[in-house]
Amino acid sequence: MNEPVILAPSILAADPGRLADQMKQAARGGAAMWHLDVMDGHFVPNLSFGPHICAGLRRYTELPFDAHLMVDNPSRLIEPFITAGASSVVLHVELGDSVPIPQMLREIKAAGALPTVSLCPQTPPEAVGPYLPLVGRVLLMSVEPGYGGQPLLPGSLERVRALRAIIDRFDPGIQLQLDGGVTPENAGDMIRAGADVLIAGSAVFDAPDIEARCREFISLMKR
Ligand code: DX5
Ligand code: ZN
Repeated sequence: MNEPVILAPSILAADPGRLADQMKQAARGGAAMWHLDVMDGHFVPNLSFGPHICAGLRRYTELPFDAHLMVDNPSRLIEPFITAGASSVVLHVELGDSVPIPQMLREIKAAGALPTVSLCPQTPPEAVGPYLPLVGRVLLMSVEPGYGGQPLLPGSLERVRALRAIIDRFDPGIQLQLDGGVTPENAGDMIRAGADVLIAGSAVFDAPDIEARCREFISLMKR
């Protein structure tokens, strides 16, 4: 909880034709990590991008990449994303026993990246329990996964508080990141409720001045 807070723009919302330029603007404004929304058209209906895009963008930034795997079969993407430059890899607990999540979290750690689990809005916060010994960060979805630009779901603030309390009972050093519908209007409340990392896509990249919007976010992200 005492680590600095982090603004992580989701590049899904950036203009694909001006991606590197828009990332430079966000970095100048204080963005400290890039969130990659990886979608396979199965786990979620939408389709986005794979490790190739991460590797290509690695040349334009020194900031860490966070790979959020919204896919049915994450095992075959872990190594390629870490090789492409991802510093953290996020797996969804909703996959349950269909894939060996604990084994994959150990594999992420062994490869030198930060193992992370994600919870969808309908998943009870307690579901994180079995994974806490294996993760460095937990991602809480505040929209249904699949699309950027959705409004933050009601009850998300209470879910941040509940999840923070569960995490703190195990290890307060585990970071909590919030993903979906984050705006300057709710950013401060989410940080004070216990989030350490805020992911924001459309609120960053749809802004008329991306750099200024990131500065605004960071000025509001005070504990
Ligand atoms: C949703 C993604 C989010 C989302 C963030 O499936 O995981 O990262 O795109 O974008 P905004 O901030 O537009 O909700
Ligand atoms: Zn995401």
